[in-house]
Amino acid sequence: MSNNVRPESMERITTPALAGAFIDEQCRVLREQIGDKQVLLALSGGVDSSVVAALLIRAVGRQLVCVHVNHGLLRKGEPEQVVRVFRDQMNANLIYVDAVDRFLDKLAGVFDPETKRKVIGAEFIRVFEEQARKLDGIAFLAQGTIYPDILESGPVKAHHNVGGLPEDLRFELVEPLKFLFKDEVRVVGKALGLPDSMVYRQPFPGPGLGVRCLGAITRDRLEALREADAILREEFDAAGLAGKVWQYFAVVPDMRSTGVRDGKRTFDWPVILRAVNTRDAMTATVEEIPWPLLHKLTARITAEVPGVNRVLYDLTPKPSGTIEWE
Ligand code: XMP
Repeated sequence: MSNNVRPESMERITTPALAGAFIDEQCRVLREQIGDKQVLLALSGGVDSSVVAALLIRAVGRQLVCVHVNHGLLRKGEPEQVVRVFRDQMNANLIYVDAVDRFLDKLAGVFDPETKRKVIGAEFIRVFEEQARKLDGIAFLAQGTIYPDILESGPVKAHHNVGGLPEDLRFELVEPLKFLFKDEVRVVGKALGLPDSMVYRQPFPGPGLGVRCLGAITRDRLEALREADAILREEFDAAGLAGKVWQYFAVVPDMRSTGVRDGKRTFDWPVILRAVNTRDAMTATVEEIPWPLLHKLTARITAEVPGVNRVLYDLTPKPSGTIEWE
């Protein structure tokens, strides 16, 4: 489709000035397209949906209705950051949906990775649909589609792609970033005033921590994962590795091992740490984390995260492993 091909005349957006020109032009186009109608957006807090939100807020203010679904599988502090940045700082019309119990109840006992993804994706659409039905006067659906999504049109965004909505909720699409590459989206996001922690966020899968809490998700293991992941991110920040390593995260498998703490035997979970570099996520190499950092991470995680008695570092490149464990 010709309207899905980036115009050859389009300059790459590499500077704040070019981002400013793109923003001005998009605001003009969006205002013309949207008029006095309302636009709905599923705001996950990822880079793309955040930049779309900030752009639409700039263009049409509170005519944009953002829905943030907290499915309980986000990283520590993320739902709070979405509310802080968009509702408090940008005065967005933001609906925050606490769907944690719903998702975790639906996921109870589900251990197959692809089934977990399907359950999360289907429940996401259901929650979003319920919210959309409560609103009057929505004419458009905004999406954080970027150019690689169009080029690859792979399954990567399945969870965010709310194209699975029923017929009567298929609004006209607004995709202002659809010709941008990721680095350009970041430049635009910065120019729109989004914080670095959002703009330079590492890739995070749609099913979130759900595919890193291996096997059937339990609340206690999910909490251990969230805490361990937060410690890993904190230490990567402190070591200056954040923004340099493509993706780094924790995984908590569904198994226990024997340990000892305060002279008593424990039977707790291990935390697996993973840090990889890649260009296109098709192959990946392992980041050679300095040993002192690994020791520090191990000491902190085993001391601070309840239910964890070991820390392992995954040395497997892709292939033979995938980046995620599930
Ligand atoms: P794998 O594990 O296949 O991951 O080597 C490649 C990249 O894709 C991300 N990933 C996902 N992203 N939904 C997503 O939105 C998913 O279900 C999903 N599974 C993997 C992964 O984090 C990595 O960046």
